[in-house]
Amino acid sequence: MITKEELTAGIRRDLNLEDAETDINESYAAVPKKYDLNTELLSTKAKHAHKEIYQNHIEKLNRVSAEQDGVNRQEDFARYHDLKKREIFELNAVYLHELFFANISDVHSEITMDTLTFMRLERDFGNFDSWQYDFVANAMSSTSGWAVCAYSTFLQRYINFFVDGNDGCIPVGCYPVIAIDVWEHVYFRDYLDDKKSYVYAMMKELQWDVIEERFKRAEKIAGAMR
Ligand SMILES: [Fe+2]
Repeated sequence: MITKEELTAGIRRDLNLEDAETDINESYAAVPKKYDLNTELLSTKAKHAHKEIYQNHIEKLNRVSAEQDGVNRQEDFARYHDLKKREIFELNAVYLHELFFANISDVHSEITMDTLTFMRLERDFGNFDSWQYDFVANAMSSTSGWAVCAYSTFLQRYINFFVDGNDGCIPVGCYPVIAIDVWEHVYFRDYLDDKKSYVYAMMKELQWDVIEERFKRAEKIAGAMR
């Protein structure tokens, strides 16, 4: 298996950055993870195409982070600005896709009332149905982006929000626990413009056991921030 150093060196070679006058090396050298998407609510073609999109984001993230290593950070602020924006866009795209792939496609999806997830969503949204109602509203409001449920360290509660693109309208200080991709590239093959049916389909098969582990980690963050 290729090491981070080898991957980074390869990208730097491709970009002619080997002799760049910098000793800064922030390249991420991310590698794609494997996800078994057993759902039949998305076609095989759509799932395959989506995994390719995820891999493309990883390649772009690695390249843009390597490119940053070659920027003169004492003078070339316009270029650094451009690269940093691209880096955050790709970084979020990778992270959000990994959250999404890991929290969908449970054909036996079930949430029980004794889980931390259920109790926290009831506490912060009044009841579970109200959380769902609000989450779907966020999914439908985003033109091309994401619906996210996250723990806000500032508000000390869970909130739903949408992300426009991969980097717009993101509240600071949040730990994401549920993410649904609502870019057209996910649903247009199988659902055409019926985005709502796609959103309901994904929510029907949420991996509540994966989400429960995220809520447990969020609870530790909440405890540490008190
Ligand atoms: Fe996507």
